[in-house]
Amino acid sequence: MGRLAIAWAAWILAISGAGAQEDAIPTSLTGAPGDAARGRAIVANRQVGLCLLCHNGPFPEERFQGDLAPDLTGVGARYTEGQLRLRIVDPARINPQTIMPAYGRTEGLNRVIGAFAGKPILNAEQIEDVVAYLTSLRAEKTP
Ligand code: HEC
Repeated sequence: MGRLAIAWAAWILAISGAGAQEDAIPTSLTGAPGDAARGRAIVANRQVGLCLLCHNGPFPEERFQGDLAPDLTGVGARYTEGQLRLRIVDPARINPQTIMPAYGRTEGLNRVIGAFAGKPILNAEQIEDVVAYLTSLRAEKTP
């Protein structure tokens, strides 16, 4: 977590130095708000989102959850909607070394084969559903 915090601070310095706000995609990809319930299903799904391969979060029904990535509990309080959208669409824009897949990007991916070539992992509507769900995760863990 220390390394992440340092990377984050460096990023903030970089963007504030450039005077740009490039750590977010402020507007909906579909022009409409997503559906948080559908988003939760995508995040918990082992075939579509695969988020729980790396993340854990408020999913008491899911027995096996990842520990390679931050807990998603309370993530909606830590980031704005636009910041969450960018982190789903193209996390490498925040951390070029990230192991997290770019769910909404089709260009510049080097590990995409066959049926997935040229298609994002999640379409715009699914991304908005996931963003709506993550935005709703405002409560921190209860002790
Ligand atoms: C292969 C592992 C992996 C998968 C799969 C994955 N992530 Fe991540 N994710 C990470 C890592 C690692 C980070 C920490 C930042 C970084 O290294 O990029 C992260 C960071 C995040 C963040 C920022 C959280 C924070 O507290 O900083 C969010 C939000 C997020 N992921 C959501 C998702 C969602 C939603 C999915 C599924 C659609 C998903 N991730 C799938 C590895 C993964």
